[in-house]
Amino acid sequence: MPFHLPEPWRVKVVEPISLPTEKEREERLQKAGFNLFDVPAEAVFIDLLTDSGTSAMSDNQWAGLMRGDESYAGARNYYHFEAAVTEIFGFSHFVPVHQGRVAENLLFSTLVQPDMIVPNNNHFDTTRANIEIHRGLAVDLVIPEGRDPAAEHPFKGNIDLERVRRLFEETPRSRIPLAMLTLTNNSGGGQPVSLANIRAYSELCREFGIPFYIDACRFAENAFFIQQREPGQQEKSIPQIVREIFDLADGCTMSAKKDGLANMGGFLASRDDELIETIKQRLILIEGFPTYGGLAGRDLEAVARGLWEVMDPEYLRFRVSQVGAFGERMAELGIPIIQPVGGHAVYIDARSFLSHIPQSEFPAQALVVALYRGGGVRGVEVGSVMFGRKDPETGEDVYPELDLVRLAVPRRVYTNTHLRYVCDVLEVIRDEPERVKGLNMVYEAPVLRHFTARFEEIEVGVGVGQPS
Ligand code: F0G
Repeated sequence: MPFHLPEPWRVKVVEPISLPTEKEREERLQKAGFNLFDVPAEAVFIDLLTDSGTSAMSDNQWAGLMRGDESYAGARNYYHFEAAVTEIFGFSHFVPVHQGRVAENLLFSTLVQPDMIVPNNNHFDTTRANIEIHRGLAVDLVIPEGRDPAAEHPFKGNIDLERVRRLFEETPRSRIPLAMLTLTNNSGGGQPVSLANIRAYSELCREFGIPFYIDACRFAENAFFIQQREPGQQEKSIPQIVREIFDLADGCTMSAKKDGLANMGGFLASRDDELIETIKQRLILIEGFPTYGGLAGRDLEAVARGLWEVMDPEYLRFRVSQVGAFGERMAELGIPIIQPVGGHAVYIDARSFLSHIPQSEFPAQALVVALYRGGGVRGVEVGSVMFGRKDPETGEDVYPELDLVRLAVPRRVYTNTHLRYVCDVLEVIRDEPERVKGLNMVYEAPVLRHFTARFEEIEVGVGVGQPS
């Protein structure tokens, strides 16, 4: 039964939200050129744009903010942060950073040179960009099931070990500075990786002398899936599984904006103390002194406490079941989603949902617009707007395989009732999908166009949620 687990917390502080009127939603859409990145958050009712930095902190974390020590060097909160990184992940060399992509920047700017290759199940876009900026190659080697939205597999985030072995055999060692693995696999639908796969990948890396780093953003959700789904793992606690995972790695990049349950923060950890010493010099240039790395003392405290809290089995059971129930409800309504549902988001297959809209008219962006128009809900397009491009030789438009809308669920923020409401908005769209109009892109920036692109609606007719 969907939505059967109640929230394992009660509300102590409320932040009012309200649904703008139909007229206001329409005006906001027009003004933003149908790009939801350009709609102020206050005009959004339910914001599912991202699960990053959007968590609600606990009373324990808020209490921790008051214990912030804002000394420049050696603040007490740094030592709490250090204790969390060391005890949870087992890494004694690390630097704090203000968010995950800085950890990526520091790691790849130190290790990656032109033509070097970095494998991963799927690189997240900032990871890829931080490799490509050094003219390295970011290679995605997720298992074939991970690329098929309908394929059922308990660990669709697994990396294809045969392809990894082939890559390692065919490439000189000097061209692979490190190997990455993303837990859970965000770009592949938030799908988990099994402990067996992590272990086998780690062994392969060791065999070929390649350092193995984990992109740890959603480490606790991944550990929970292992405990639930992987044979022989049921008796282990979440902290035990987490430790077992990270004992297999040489280091990690972490955005505490996800499974750190904080609004800002992250770290880069490594067993290579010389590497961390080198990186500290660069850290001082771009983030700050190594005991704060771009964060206030109070932020360090919030992350230190969040890293422990996120491993609470009751929290994790609710978290994964809430996102799962959200997806199950959509499936019940006949809305095509990526199956099985991942840890932090539900992904809707917009090409199949809005089959009357060709890919050249951005079906996933059209669905994002319909969700806002219909109910003030904000999701994010992960499809032709984000990944489409013009072929430099033929000048033709090239589209990705999938046009998805990601509805990411912030941690501890929305109740089951909020998510049920989002399903109701989707149900209205499902009943008359042809009322959703295709879009014409009328402005695009040369890089990362999805943030600033502007659109016009194509078909004449009446949009979803508009008065008819
Ligand atoms: N790695 C993964 C797997 C991510 O999902 C993200 C961010 C990052 C690295 C970068 O971390 O934002 O702290 O610099 N993902 C967010 C999202 C933005 O919406 O999925 P960051």
